[in-house]
Amino acid sequence: TARRVVFSGIQPTGVPHLGNYLGALSNWVKLQRTAAPEDELFFSIVGWHALTLPQEPTSLAKSRRELLATLLAIGLDPKRSVIFHQDHNQSHTELAWILNCITPIGKLRRMTTWKSRLATSRNANDESEVDESMLNAGLFTYPVLQAADILAYRSTHVPVGEDQTQHLELCRDLADTFNRTFKSSSPLFPLPSQINTTSRRILSLKDPSSKMSKSSPDLQSRILLTDTGAQIQSKIRAAVTDSIAGISYDPIARPGTSNLLTILAACTDEDVADVAKRYEGKGHGHLKADVAAAVEEMIKGPRAEFEKLRHETAYLDQVAKDGAERAMERSDRTMKVVRERLGL
Ligand code: ADP
Ligand code: NA
Repeated sequence: TARRVVFSGIQPTGVPHLGNYLGALSNWVKLQRTAAPEDELFFSIVGWHALTLPQEPTSLAKSRRELLATLLAIGLDPKRSVIFHQDHNQSHTELAWILNCITPIGKLRRMTTWKSRLATSRNANDESEVDESMLNAGLFTYPVLQAADILAYRSTHVPVGEDQTQHLELCRDLADTFNRTFKSSSPLFPLPSQINTTSRRILSLKDPSSKMSKSSPDLQSRILLTDTGAQIQSKIRAAVTDSIAGISYDPIARPGTSNLLTILAACTDEDVADVAKRYEGKGHGHLKADVAAAVEEMIKGPRAEFEKLRHETAYLDQVAKDGAERAMERSDRTMKVVRERLGL
């Protein structure tokens, strides 16, 4: 099989939660472990994406540093993978601008992420009236920057969740449009495919009708990778479940209970059906105690490593610098060809 170039990114918007870890970051570590020696892996902390929402400068700086420490703490190896800050590599914004100039506005308007942003800014009195003046242009062209992130490395594979499928289709469209518009002996950009990693969706511990998310104001709704054993226990113990006797996996009728089973199965790397079977005749108290113990067992190593690394500023700066250099070396090669084909 051909050599793969893998790219994925995560926004520096606070300490990652269990959903980010089980749904995204743990897959990166797994990819690193299973990749062929010739595969190239790029993992980026995407600071420019974070700017599409208001950020407090001091906490953004802290989040950027702490997210790098987190990525190392969970087992990403800067010798094997290219781990870097997006905003250290100007190729991303240069390519994003170029891609913006071949992106039909209509396509961006059809992005469900944009439509849901618009929905939140609907006029309260007239549902059909949308107030775009409240939204910034960065939010609108965000998927184009994402395409640039991927294409700058001529990536072939992108491990992201189902919520990103539409953005990746746009990325493929833009790659194809560029290849056809600025023709040469060979197409410049591969059309990257989504890697179907385990598509787990972890739900809020307080409202199992929604996903676990950092945007919820209820801090009890999510477990952070920095939480102590006691915090994990108290959050899991207070998790919303149901009053049905026994334990069974039924995401529709029993979302809270099923979410706990999903978390446990993910921690122990088992099939959720097997886990459910084991708890059939047991109660929620029993299940919750075991879930808390399994989560603690899974994150205690990374948590200790994070606590150590977060203070090693000089080391973190060096990792970021090395990562940026390796990233730029790769994207500079792409951009040289991009500029030539455009006549720049
Ligand atoms: P949040 O919803 O907390 O703002 P992001 O949107 O920044 O999280 O997502 C970062 C990554 O984590 C994405 O790859 C996303 O698919 C994944 N992710 C976020 N929340 C969850 C969740 N509850 N379950 C599974 N994966 C998730
Ligand atoms: Na989000």
